[in-house]
Amino acid sequence: MADDLCFFSKDTFSLKSPKKSPLVLRMIVLMFAMVCGVYICSICLKQIGTRTTNEFLNVEEPQRPCPEPNIEPWEIPYVHYPKPKTYSRDECACNPVRYFAILSMQRSGSGWFETLLNNHTNISSNGEIFSVKVRRSNISSIVETLDTIYNLDWLSSASKNECTAAVGLKWMLNQGLLQHHEEIVEYFRTRGVSAIFLFRRNLLRRMISVLANSYDRDAKLLNGTHKSHVHSPHEAEILARYKPLINATLLIRDLKQVEETQTKALEYFKSTRHIILYYEDILKNSSVRQTIKNRKLIFHAFF
Ligand SMILES: *[C@@H]1O[C@H](CO)[C@@H](O)[C@H](O)[C@H]1NC(C)=O
Ligand SMILES: *[C@@H]1O[C@H](CO)[C@@H](O)[C@H](O)[C@H]1NC(C)=O
Ligand SMILES: *[C@@H]1O[C@H](CO)[C@@H](O)[C@H](O)[C@H]1NC(C)=O
Ligand SMILES: *[C@@H]1O[C@H](CO)[C@@H](O)[C@H](O)[C@H]1NC(C)=O
Ligand SMILES: *[C@@H]1O[C@H](CO)[C@@H](O)[C@H](O)[C@H]1NC(C)=O
Ligand SMILES: *[C@@H]1O[C@H](CO)[C@@H](O)[C@H](O)[C@H]1NC(C)=O
Repeated sequence: MADDLCFFSKDTFSLKSPKKSPLVLRMIVLMFAMVCGVYICSICLKQIGTRTTNEFLNVEEPQRPCPEPNIEPWEIPYVHYPKPKTYSRDECACNPVRYFAILSMQRSGSGWFETLLNNHTNISSNGEIFSVKVRRSNISSIVETLDTIYNLDWLSSASKNECTAAVGLKWMLNQGLLQHHEEIVEYFRTRGVSAIFLFRRNLLRRMISVLANSYDRDAKLLNGTHKSHVHSPHEAEILARYKPLINATLLIRDLKQVEETQTKALEYFKSTRHIILYYEDILKNSSVRQTIKNRKLIFHAFF
């Protein structure tokens, strides 16, 4: 009986144990499956993750992987890779672009200077954009305009191709430049814009040019048209026949005022990357002129 009992209990034990063990096994298999599942899931997630970052990288690819331009390290903040909204730069997306602004005063040769620059196929100087008052009515519209120009989205007769290597404008000191100088200096510094100051050494000649120009605006000496920039010796001769009267009492004061304006501008913008050019020097010195034509001005020399 005891044997029986023992047997029974053994039996029950032995009967129970094969019942128990599949449960344990099942639990183990279940746990194993769960662990495997979690592991596979995590690998899947990881792969999806890497794939999305890969895709992200692929999307971002045209942004940075441009090869380092062959320039001095200090120059790197001054080269840019704009992505115009209005067209694609295609094969030139990795051509570095330099930003410049010609800061000048009326009748100082900036029109002629700009023509010299624009003679280069890959330089685009967009003219006196801020002569239009609404564009300089406040700093936000100034910044918006500059952003459009430097993003290569400003379409003018001077706009070049997708391979533009330098882009800029000419900007007169009295066109909001001095008024908003703090924000503009900040913009130039953070966006890596190089300033080219273009002044005249002979301010008396400049003053005469200002007077002649404003006289011609009313008199229209050239067959009833007003020419702020003459394009032939013949036209220049006709305009030069006009001899303005200068009020000697105000002359010194007026010349001083111009000088002060120039000094103020140089002081304000001294922390930006800049050069100072004088019209007379460019005119007389053919090597300076040649350098400008060869775009070295914008790229390396002088700065
Ligand atoms: C640049 O100027 C030269 C003459 O000095 C002219 O032959 C050439 O067509 C000009 N190029 C451009 C792109 O304006
Ligand atoms: C203008 O840029 C293109 C593309 O980089 C280049 O092939 C061409 O030589 C450049 N033109 C000049 C005159 O430097
Ligand atoms: C700035 O000027 C523009 C154009 O005149 C105007 O539309 C805009 O509302 C002005 N913005 C501010 C902040 O004054
Ligand atoms: C004015 O027009 C006439 C006739 O078309 C021309 O002969 C003359 O050269 C022009 N003058 C100027 C200054 O352009
Ligand atoms: C010169 O300007 C002063 C100040 O505006 C004026 O008083 C004077 O009459 C002017 N002289 C002439 C010759 O126009
Ligand atoms: C012309 O400019 C260059 C570069 O700035 C200078 O080295 C040279 O002496 C100048 N020549 C004359 C005649 O002024």
